[in-house]
Amino acid sequence: MSGIRAVPAGIGSYLPERVLTNDDLAKTVDTTHEWIVERTGIHRRHIAAQGETTADLAFHAVERALAAAGMTVDEIDMIVVATATPDQTFPSTATRIQHRIGMAHGFAFDVQAVCSGFLYALTVATQFIETGKARAAIVIGAETFSRILDWTDRATCVLFGDGAGALILKGETGTGRNTDRGVLSTELRSDGAHNASLYVDGGPSTTGIAGHLRMNGREVFKHAVRNLAEIGEAALTTAGLTPSDVRWVVPHQANARIISSTAQKIGVEMDRVIVTVQDHANTSAASIPLALDVAVRDGRIRTGDLLLLEAMGGGFTWGGAAVRW
Ligand code: UT7
Repeated sequence: MSGIRAVPAGIGSYLPERVLTNDDLAKTVDTTHEWIVERTGIHRRHIAAQGETTADLAFHAVERALAAAGMTVDEIDMIVVATATPDQTFPSTATRIQHRIGMAHGFAFDVQAVCSGFLYALTVATQFIETGKARAAIVIGAETFSRILDWTDRATCVLFGDGAGALILKGETGTGRNTDRGVLSTELRSDGAHNASLYVDGGPSTTGIAGHLRMNGREVFKHAVRNLAEIGEAALTTAGLTPSDVRWVVPHQANARIISSTAQKIGVEMDRVIVTVQDHANTSAASIPLALDVAVRDGRIRTGDLLLLEAMGGGFTWGGAAVRW
């Protein structure tokens, strides 16, 4: 059945200037470059400058995405921002970005699903576009996790970084078949039983302060591969596709070992997986659009390629999407 598809029109990303290497971290916590690389694949991360906020990072990513799409703000009807590190408790970071890009029409809001946030935001924006409620949307993942890390905890502070990515989705009439360009399927899951495995020990209604990230890494790892493989396969099945149809897996960039184990479980060779975690560590909701941007700009991802996106994060939340670029 023909209908409107949410089709990628442009992608952009931004990493703050300051780079923090593993060797830099080894000067302040008891760790080594070798340990971090072996367990995670991470070599470096970018850290927002003092006063530079999540909305600031997102603004640069949005400017680049609009330029890539050749679109103006007038053509955009909605902004959805996935972030767990908003500028303020309220209003939303999305409305700050909306104002900053000079958009005084339409609507903007945040969604919160931590590292799965980009897939939640993508799903929401896709629904608005497919039902004709929005002509085009900017879907953003943006984070300043450096602000919620306990820099004395070597088990967590080496894993995360700051960054932002923005994807513009535009409504286009499709045939309804999985050969169409655009978002072909999305699948979302959550299970609040795992709150204590990955959380922030603060918040407006508990401690009144932002708090710090706490994680049971082994517990997260254990669930990650199983959940990611299942949701990836579910997104493909919903779209009537199989792993052999996938040109590129673009996973949440948390840990190279999780990425490769998940790809193996789904049945996709590593030469069809986009990996950027070495360059920016885990940027939570920003990691998928960051990886997408790198691979689109270096020519790996081309128009018509079938992409499988998958992510898992605190909650637990997890999600997958089949997207024809
Ligand atoms: O978006 C989802 C976000 N979360 C994740 O992706 C995390 C998933 N989990 C992981 O990636 C892994 O569990 C980690 C990379 C966090 C840890 O790797 P692990 O193989 O599970 O190590 P572990 O936590 O079992 O710790 C092994 C040892 C411990 O020492 P002992 O108890 O064996 O003496 C830790 O204290 O490694 C020690 N350790 C470190 N050593 C050097 C923990 N962090 C570090 C560190 N440098 N940074």
